[in-house]
Amino acid sequence: MRLELRDVRHVYGRGTPFEVEALRNVSLAVEPGEVLGIVGGTGSGKSTLVQHMNLLLVPTSGTVVVDGVDAATLKKSELRRGVGLVFQFPEAALFAPTVEEDVAFAPRRMGLAETEVSERVQGSLEMLGAGHLAGRSPFALSGGEKRRVAIAGVLAMASEILILDEPTAGLDPATRQDLLSLVRGLRDAGISVVLVSHDLDEVAEAADRVCVMERGEVRAIGTPAEVFYADLANAPATVRVGAALKVAYSNVGTPVRYGETLAALRAMLED
Ligand SMILES: Nc1ncnc2c1ncn2[C@@H]1O[C@H](COP(=O)(O)OP(=O)(O)OP(=O)(O)O)[C@@H](O)[C@H]1O
Ligand SMILES: [Mg+2]
Repeated sequence: MRLELRDVRHVYGRGTPFEVEALRNVSLAVEPGEVLGIVGGTGSGKSTLVQHMNLLLVPTSGTVVVDGVDAATLKKSELRRGVGLVFQFPEAALFAPTVEEDVAFAPRRMGLAETEVSERVQGSLEMLGAGHLAGRSPFALSGGEKRRVAIAGVLAMASEILILDEPTAGLDPATRQDLLSLVRGLRDAGISVVLVSHDLDEVAEAADRVCVMERGEVRAIGTPAEVFYADLANAPATVRVGAALKVAYSNVGTPVRYGETLAALRAMLED
C-alpha cells in the first residue's frame, strides 16, 4: 500500500479565537515496505500529520491518496484495515481481562471469522515478541510488555501500514532498543512503519527515510544521511561523530547508525 499526502493543510478551531494552522502544504508519501521517521520539535505538527494518514483527521484542504485513490472516497473502516495508528502511551487503552482478548477486540469488531481473529491475534502478538503473554492480564505486565501488547492490538486490525506516535517514550534504554528492532522486523515482514520520535539517534537507527517537520511544514525529507548531514546542528550524535571523523579521515563515508559510526572509527584507528 502506498499512502500519499498531497498539499495537506490542517487548521484546528477554524473561525474561533483559538484557530491554529497546524499543517501547511504538506506533501509526502509513505512508500511500501519502508520505515519513515518523522522528527521535529514539540508542536511542529507530527501528531496532526500522522492522524491524517488514517483519516482520524480530515484535511482542511488537500488530499490523502491511497494507492492512487482519494481516501475521502473510501470508507474509514476500509482504510483502517490497511493503516493502523498507535497513539502515544497506547497501553492506557488496554481493558480486557486477558492479553488475547484485548488484541482480539478490534478484529472481532471488524466482523472477521473467529478462526481469522485468532490467527491475527497470534500472528501480531508473535510479531511483537509477546506471544508468551497471551493468557496474562494486561494489567499485570511491565510497561514495555504493555506497550508491545497495545501495538499488537492495532497490528491485528491493520496489516499494511503501522503508524507509531512516540512508541519508545518512557521506556528504559534496553526496552527501547528491543522495540526498535521490532520496527525493523515489521518492515522486513513487508509492513510499512511511520515512526514519530523526538529521539534523533533512534530515528537514525531505525528509519529508511526521515521527514523533518517545522512549524507545520516539511522542512526536509530524504535518507537519514541526506537529511542529517545537511543540517549537522540538528543531527543525532552518531552523525555528528561521523562528520567530525570526516575532518581527519575523508573516506569514512556517511555513517548514520551507531554501528556504522563505530566501524568508521575502527577503520580510522586501524589505518
Ligand atoms: N485538538 C487540537 N485542537 C487545537 N489545537 C491543536 C490540537 N492538537 C494540536 N493542536 C495544535 O497544533 C499544533 C501541532 O500539534 P501536534 O500535536 O501535531 O504537534 P507535535 O509535533 O505532535 O508535538 P509533540 O512533539 O509535543 O507531540 C500545536 O500548535 C498544537 O497546539
Ligand atoms: Mg505529538
